[in-house]
Amino acid sequence: MAETTAVNVLGIETSCDETSVALLRVDGPAVSVEKQLLTTQIPIHARYGGVVPEVAARSHVAELVALLTEVMHESYDVVAATRGPGLPTALAVGLEAGKILVLLTEKSFVGVNHLEGHLASAWLSEENRTKWEFPMLALSVSGGHSELILMRDWCSYEVVGETRDDAAGEAFDKTAKLIGLPYPGGPAIEALAKGGDASKIALPRPMLNDDSCDMSFSGLKTAVRVWFEEHRAQMTEQDRADLAAAVQQAIADVLITKTLRAASRYAVRGIVFVGGVSANQSLRLQLQEAIQNQLQNVAFLPSERKYVTDNAAMIAAAGYWRWKAGKTDDPLDCDIDPGFSLS
Ligand code: KG4
Ligand code: ZN
Repeated sequence: MAETTAVNVLGIETSCDETSVALLRVDGPAVSVEKQLLTTQIPIHARYGGVVPEVAARSHVAELVALLTEVMHESYDVVAATRGPGLPTALAVGLEAGKILVLLTEKSFVGVNHLEGHLASAWLSEENRTKWEFPMLALSVSGGHSELILMRDWCSYEVVGETRDDAAGEAFDKTAKLIGLPYPGGPAIEALAKGGDASKIALPRPMLNDDSCDMSFSGLKTAVRVWFEEHRAQMTEQDRADLAAAVQQAIADVLITKTLRAASRYAVRGIVFVGGVSANQSLRLQLQEAIQNQLQNVAFLPSERKYVTDNAAMIAAAGYWRWKAGKTDDPLDCDIDPGFSLS
């Protein structure tokens, strides 16, 4: 009988406001998320208009124990837990739990960079795996990050563009708050924008035409505030929808232009699109179309919707590649790294 090469990775994610545990099985070319458990704290933080770190950490403690209890009887070879970036006390909950599991069971341990987890989320899609060819460019856009990352191989990344101020998700969240929409702002803006006309309100696209692959979104927030203050007295529902559409389009234009510029510059074979903001359907479609129309033989590799926002399956996937490269960590010498950078 052939020896089995299957590897089971237990992933743990607690970097922000999602508590998640997942079991990933990799058996040669067969990759499957056997189990993914996730509880979100969004309704708790929505009351405060944003994530409250102390509240997040306490919720992670309660939720993680419950989720881990559900997978304790499963067999696994590697434990992969998020080390950072993220909220320090929130990160500590998941990382310490993972370390204790490994110390008790003598399995392998990997401390994962959350951003590498987002990159690996695209690899969880079977369709994407058939087109997976390095070098690739990743557009990783979430509430805390907006980065263009050159992926030369697994574990070999270079940040080639990043935001100079707010993250793209933050731009959605802050502008949504300004116009009275709930947290998180991205889905709220997207829903409202469906009935709006982006061309009705002119908003800035900072740094669009400069030569760098860096981005900036804080000017957008200011422009929205100014427009809103000027018009709020006589503002109609249609105006609100137009403003949401204009915000969404301004963010999309910046992200798409910078992504295409970096993709040409580094002659990549594929563009990975990940992070919470990649849930935005309008942005997804526009980016896909721009790649098809303006680049030749470059695959578009968005992560599946269920792996777009923070989850443990993507942490297990990144952990798998680090384990495969021999980059395991000593649980007694692996601490949280709230500012953990990719390269
Ligand atoms: O990746 P994620 O879940 O957490 C971080 O690591 O930050 O991303 C959350 C961010 C929030 O800023 C949220 O507003 C944004 O992703 N987001 C969206 C959409 N869904 C979530 N932004 C635009 N359109 C969406 N549909
Ligand atoms: Zn994230």
